[in-house]
Amino acid sequence: MGKVVFVTGAARGIGKEICLVMAKEGYDVSLNYRTKTDEVDEVKKEIESYGVKCAIVQGDVGNYEECAKMVNETVEQLGSIDVLVNNAGITKDGLLMRMNREDFTRVIDVNLVGTFNVTRNVIPLMIKQRSGRIINIASIVGITGNAGQTNYAASKAGIIGFTKSLAKEVASRNILINAIAPGFIATDMTKVLSDEQKENINAQIPLKRMGSANDIAKVVKFLASDDSSYITGQVIHVDGGMLM
Ligand SMILES: NC(=O)c1ccc[n+]([C@@H]2O[C@H](COP(=O)([O-])OP(=O)(O)OC[C@H]3O[C@@H](n4cnc5c(N)ncnc54)[C@H](OP(=O)(O)O)[C@@H]3O)[C@@H](O)[C@H]2O)c1
Repeated sequence: MGKVVFVTGAARGIGKEICLVMAKEGYDVSLNYRTKTDEVDEVKKEIESYGVKCAIVQGDVGNYEECAKMVNETVEQLGSIDVLVNNAGITKDGLLMRMNREDFTRVIDVNLVGTFNVTRNVIPLMIKQRSGRIINIASIVGITGNAGQTNYAASKAGIIGFTKSLAKEVASRNILINAIAPGFIATDMTKVLSDEQKENINAQIPLKRMGSANDIAKVVKFLASDDSSYITGQVIHVDGGMLM
């Protein structure tokens, strides 16, 4: 295929699954990680087992210079970036009354400013090649809000506004920008919930289960494909019907 996807926060969880699904589809993959673990090398091996190339780029998406470096390294190793998936994200939950400034700004810096930092470095390449897809991983709490997550919900609401604005800016260059708003997905991020909390959440989901990373990765695959060539500026809810 020769197309390249760059996925941030890709060593585990939803990002890792996106890499594997896209590799299976024939994309060369640039995998960003922040913290080095044995899993990074395992994921690289698994990606390469599909007969595609894999670049590994280390860096914090909250750091603009590191993002510029990661984008350059990807292009040096794989030739271009056709699809960018802004997936890296963190939570630092707490009621506003007890939240300190650092926990608020760090979540905004990684989730929202991180999305800007990577996108700002990728968009000139896409404008030059007059094509590209950017898929931002938001959250349904960016639409509904959630007690204890003012920082996280604000970052995800920001990503939705960013997605729609950029979609309008670059549509004429054949660059499509969309967001996915996952509901509750079983990953390390939701592992911290107690069994009782999970039961309560499942009871509120019409499909009566948490989603899997694969449920999200399949939608990324669709938004990167020719099958979605008339979709831009949209937020696709992948939440088992939680928000309707
Ligand atoms: N799970 C859910 O229910 C759910 C629901 C809605 C939206 N989402 C969103 O989906 C995305 C993926 O979530 P997940 O559930 O897969 O979470 P996860 O299992 O906690 O994985 C998050 C990934 O992001 C990386 N990351 C964090 N900060 C980073 C930074 N500054 N620079 C680069 N990478 C960084 C982590 O790397 P390290 O290992 O180095 O920390 C990790 O690989 C996030 O944007 C999240 O907000 C998840």
